[in-house]
Amino acid sequence: TTIAAMDVLQWAEVAPGVWKATIGQADPLTPLNYAGTPKQDALAALEPAAFPFEKDVPVGQINAHGANVRIPLGAREKIYGLGLDFVGINRRKEVHHQHVDHYAQGKLKGRTHAPVPFYVSSDGYGVLVNTAHRPSFYVGSGNRKDSKLPTPVDRTTNKKGWSSRPLSDAVEVSVTGDGLEIFVFAGNNPLEAVQRYNLYCGGGVLPPRWGLGFWHRMHTQTDAATVVQEIADFEEHGFPLDVIGLEPGWQSFAYPCSFDWDPTRFPDPKGFLDTVGDKGIRINLWENPYISPESSISEAMKPYTGSHTVWLGEVADYTLPEAQKILLDHHQAKHLDIGVSGYKFDEVDGYDYWLWPDHATFPSGHDAVQIRQVYGVMIQNMLMNRFRELNQRTYGLVRSSNAGASNLGFVLYSDYYGHEGYITALVNSSFSGLLWTPEIRNADSGEEWVRRFQSVCFSPMLQLDAWNSGKKPWSYPEVTGIVRDVVELRTRLLPYLYTAFSEYNQKGVPPFRAMVLESGYKSEEKEVGGVLHGEKNPYAETNRLESTDQYMMGPSILVAPVLEKQKQRDVILPQGDWYDFYTGAFVGNGETITIKTKLEQIPLFVKDGGIIPMMPMAANLSKIEGKIPLEIRHYGKSAGAYELYDDDGETFDFEKGVFSTTRLEIRRVDGELAGSKTAAKGPWPSRYGEVSWVFMSE
Ligand code: GAL
Repeated sequence: TTIAAMDVLQWAEVAPGVWKATIGQADPLTPLNYAGTPKQDALAALEPAAFPFEKDVPVGQINAHGANVRIPLGAREKIYGLGLDFVGINRRKEVHHQHVDHYAQGKLKGRTHAPVPFYVSSDGYGVLVNTAHRPSFYVGSGNRKDSKLPTPVDRTTNKKGWSSRPLSDAVEVSVTGDGLEIFVFAGNNPLEAVQRYNLYCGGGVLPPRWGLGFWHRMHTQTDAATVVQEIADFEEHGFPLDVIGLEPGWQSFAYPCSFDWDPTRFPDPKGFLDTVGDKGIRINLWENPYISPESSISEAMKPYTGSHTVWLGEVADYTLPEAQKILLDHHQAKHLDIGVSGYKFDEVDGYDYWLWPDHATFPSGHDAVQIRQVYGVMIQNMLMNRFRELNQRTYGLVRSSNAGASNLGFVLYSDYYGHEGYITALVNSSFSGLLWTPEIRNADSGEEWVRRFQSVCFSPMLQLDAWNSGKKPWSYPEVTGIVRDVVELRTRLLPYLYTAFSEYNQKGVPPFRAMVLESGYKSEEKEVGGVLHGEKNPYAETNRLESTDQYMMGPSILVAPVLEKQKQRDVILPQGDWYDFYTGAFVGNGETITIKTKLEQIPLFVKDGGIIPMMPMAANLSKIEGKIPLEIRHYGKSAGAYELYDDDGETFDFEKGVFSTTRLEIRRVDGELAGSKTAAKGPWPSRYGEVSWVFMSE
């Protein structure tokens, strides 16, 4: 057979600043099938940005392996993204064989809960290979014979510059199959490229307001009476509570799952949901997708399941509408209609030795590898659609995802429990349209309990997952006051956080963002060389890790979490004046500062001119009555403006324009800072009332 030459890709602009090209015959099953509808108007409203390459430079080919593309890469470019990862952010020189899986301890790049075939360049553009196959990304690691690169350096002559991974001028991506589909997202900086990607996927998700409150997952063997008691205990200990998560034991059989209530632990599900619902508490149900023979849907689902079982439970083929309908109708009747608010969908990633083999068959005829690769987004999407039909927002958890997930109301988590890796995962998620929770489960000391609590309070989901530990927020009495304070701070920041999520929805700006998405940030890298046979390792000379231990929350807060035993830490401040959140004092400008840590505080810094609306503490977000008074904090010296967002917090009516924004403005009048507020604009009557202005840095 003759090998086809590398062909120039033919690009078509499919939305403002978004181009698509296809080589060969792309597979119809792709992750974008499960994404939202592109937000064309919001895409058009972004700064115009040009196609990032010479049109005839990206090339592609079909060969014996499948399809591959070659995208140019500049000598200094850094590449971010490719999904959830617990180590590092700059993917340059890495090879990611993307394969949905339980976390492989960082040893195999691309084996993660959420491999996302999308990357962002430091030059401000993004590339998505929209495939449900297992793509391989060679991120500046391969060199074709015709590449224009520097001449090789002879290592035996002691010359400097020899590299085990010499510079390459391309990202190459290959997939098996008969073709592939590729998208390019333009931008004037990396954030704009991420925004375009998120907007093309339907815009970021706006959680229901209660979703940003306190989540507590009960021990797996809990029963209805214990939950009711737990709610009372939270009240007694002065901790807020919004969502209770029930783990496997709520079901009559798990694992595999029956999806039916256990008659001894939960004899009266409706009565139970009414009781907790009266207290403003939402219930979230844990499930995995594997169907127990005991389940009331087992018989009906049989014609729509694959050739293999998982834990002896059948695996539904949810590419089939019939299979979706059976599960969704059951869930609506048994759960949603009586008040369940959402799900934690576990085990959609799996280990190879738990899941179906690659050659398994499914009734739709789709390849088993592809079904596994997108099973997570498929399930998120079908649940999301049913919630949308019910005009009820949901927010839940899922352990696997892929591209196109921005608009899906699910947050990722893992059994892995490294605190540092959890922060890195939060940072990485922002490149890939993912949300991540560094959930807290347990700790070896009060100090660790505090540090993890502080981190999770500054994340997309504040969750104590006590499914195994049975821990309560007050389980370490020596630090209960400190834990309560940070939970209170998170709660008070709700108006700011909810508005940040609306920006995610309407403009595609991730509410929690890597620092490299922030303008004026100069990243620092540390070399991780290592030792080989007692000598400096010559092969590791160019392995660099960029700092990933700080991030942005909303427009103006920089979060610098502290790990247990960390007595001081460095914080890299982007250009511009920065202020301490707690005191309002100036801390620096475009420099790295070293701070002594305090157990009582997670270090937070605010940009000059930052405006932060804070509400009074609330024990439950659904039970707030009347107008909510706001304390509006201003940091620094500069004037500024802020659009405070509000809507009903529960339905999808905001998508039809039922929301409002209130403009908060700070000006300098006769040398003095002064604040003003306009009336709420839009059809939704804002729930925010009186405001008081606090000038933190004056
Ligand atoms: C694990 C999951 C945990 C917990 C547990 C319950 O697979 O990651 O968060 O839900 O199952 O059995």
